[in-house]
Amino acid sequence: VPHAFIIGGTGQIGHAVADVLLARNWAVTLSHRGHSPPDPDLVRRGARIVRMDRDMPGALASALSGGADAVIDTVCFTEDHADQLIEVGESVGSLVVISSASVYCDAAGRTLDEAAIGGFPNFPEPIKEDQPIVAPGPATYSTRKAALERRLLDHAKHPVTVLRPGAIHGPHSVHPREWWFVKRMLDRRDIIPLAYRGESRFHTSATANIAALVRTALEKPGTRILNAADPSAPSVAEIGAAIGRHLNYNGTLMPVGKEAVRPVGATPWSVPAPLTLDTGAAATLGYRPATTYDDAVGATCDWLTAHAATDWRERFPLLAAYPYDLFDYAAEDKFFTGTKD
Ligand SMILES: NC(=O)c1ccc[n+]([C@@H]2O[C@H](COP(=O)([O-])OP(=O)(O)OC[C@H]3O[C@@H](n4cnc5c(N)ncnc54)[C@H](OP(=O)(O)O)[C@@H]3O)[C@@H](O)[C@H]2O)c1
Repeated sequence: VPHAFIIGGTGQIGHAVADVLLARNWAVTLSHRGHSPPDPDLVRRGARIVRMDRDMPGALASALSGGADAVIDTVCFTEDHADQLIEVGESVGSLVVISSASVYCDAAGRTLDEAAIGGFPNFPEPIKEDQPIVAPGPATYSTRKAALERRLLDHAKHPVTVLRPGAIHGPHSVHPREWWFVKRMLDRRDIIPLAYRGESRFHTSATANIAALVRTALEKPGTRILNAADPSAPSVAEIGAAIGRHLNYNGTLMPVGKEAVRPVGATPWSVPAPLTLDTGAAATLGYRPATTYDDAVGATCDWLTAHAATDWRERFPLLAAYPYDLFDYAAEDKFFTGTKD
């Protein structure tokens, strides 16, 4: 039986990958520090749990001393993490590492990380994997991702697949962007404003689709970079409509234009220009999407609804840390009162 070792096995991607591989009779080990509990269903189906902090020197090498046919690293953020993976190369069959679509830069060198300073990058077409990326270095999240990609592609002795997802969605997320709509709908907001007329497209990536691509990559080991995204990139209006259908929302999703200023209508996907990913390379490898945004989002809505009674700021600190209030209902009410007058 082939053995997969998932670093970050109790996170949203880890859950989905374990689900897919267990269903295909892999032996699966979920490693994590012990902060977030493993899914009891995965444990019941045979997943083994290993407690390990990959930032502790030697921890990964020791956890992998028995070897593995595949390592899936969902929490690879630095060159040092890449070096850990290179170090265990002898005992590992193949490797899949989660990077990010935020590494891409446009023809003028504009990046997502520095969009607030340099302007939002211009990607008129769906981005292919050969699009330029940011210079590797320690400066930002994306330059560190670029650095770890470079290190692995140049030095790993085993096949390495680097995946670049967009806005990830699924149950167990620590950054569930869908909460922006779900909370408004649970709070029975009659009108929900959508900035940029709801036309923004920031490509979404269902964890089930990432897991399907991981499976394809493991079945056809090789060294490559692949975008990992949903079969189509829904607009913000389409995202809101899909969530609304699932929650039986009867209110109005109201497109608003330049007259609205942040925070009014500023969903987590609201961007001034599209960021969409070409998934042709994954398709050529044999990947077939497991789901669509519409079909996948229901499970995320149910999972979020089940958490609605808890304080969302404590439950989802990444959402609470946005540079503006995601739920400034007073500003929305004022906006609509003002525009009605
Ligand atoms: N969210 C997005 O929209 C997005 C977009 C593009 C790319 N990405 C990439 O997606 C990856 C995150 O995956 P995810 O969303 O599945 O993460 P997640 O849900 O936050 O889960 C992280 C997992 O890693 C474990 N973990 C964290 N630190 C660890 C450490 N030092 N040693 C061992 N285990 C550790 C966590 O468990 P414990 O806490 O118990 O350790 C948990 O199992 C990152 O590489 C990120 O750059 C995310």
